[in-house]
Amino acid sequence: MKTVPLLKSAALAVAATLAFVSAAQARTVEAIKKDGKIVIATEGQFAPFNFYQGKQLTGFEVEVAEAIAARMGLKVEWKAMGFDALLAGLKGDRWDMVIASHGITEERAKAVTFADPHYCTGGVVVSKGGALKSAADLKDKVVSVQTGTTYLENVKKVAGVKQVKNFPQDTDARAALASGRVDAWVSDKFVALEALGKNPGDGLKIGDFLFVERIASAVAKGNTGLAGEINKALAAIQADGSYARISEKYFKQDIRCA
Ligand code: ARG
Repeated sequence: MKTVPLLKSAALAVAATLAFVSAAQARTVEAIKKDGKIVIATEGQFAPFNFYQGKQLTGFEVEVAEAIAARMGLKVEWKAMGFDALLAGLKGDRWDMVIASHGITEERAKAVTFADPHYCTGGVVVSKGGALKSAADLKDKVVSVQTGTTYLENVKKVAGVKQVKNFPQDTDARAALASGRVDAWVSDKFVALEALGKNPGDGLKIGDFLFVERIASAVAKGNTGLAGEINKALAAIQADGSYARISEKYFKQDIRCA
């Protein structure tokens, strides 16, 4: 039969591709140290945690990650990506680490390895004039959230919400509330505080916590060597006062987990 060799070579090609894909392995901490540079991905649209000041990527998490890397004796190469692409990129070995305000969830922990949390926070309800404050107030309301976030997951759990509108960027979810296209926006407490302070004319007010969460950076699933070194460096900057200085600069308080 003529088709057999063809099928065989096709099967071999598929097998070779699969072998190649699974060979795309996360860099070990030793390999990263040898290179002298860690590749870290963030979003850059979530002030004051990660954002652009002109062309410069900055923010609390950017500075914390730089301090962690410096402790490890590493330079940082930053990549800025859409929020949805960040954790997936760890699998394809596109970057070594992600720091973008990800809450530690069971679901995410199936796909990535989280480092120790670098801050604690929660999702809050924001509305015009503070009309809506609690989960109960969201009944029959239209709520905006950023796609792929714990805000979306937690709003979905609230009974009776009329509609959840998803936006690729949190800033657009906020704009939807400011322009009256939705009744409430659910986002991070510190992000909301910053946005409200910068745009007092919008008349937005922060209500209650919908949920609380621990925020951590992530590495490829099972890259425990790298996670361990990140944890050590985080503990060191939390012990020597440099974490506290960065936190005070952005929040006028220390936002580490108690
Ligand atoms: N804390 C939320 C979560 O875990 C939102 C994170 C959004 N981060 C960002 N860089 N836009 O999903």
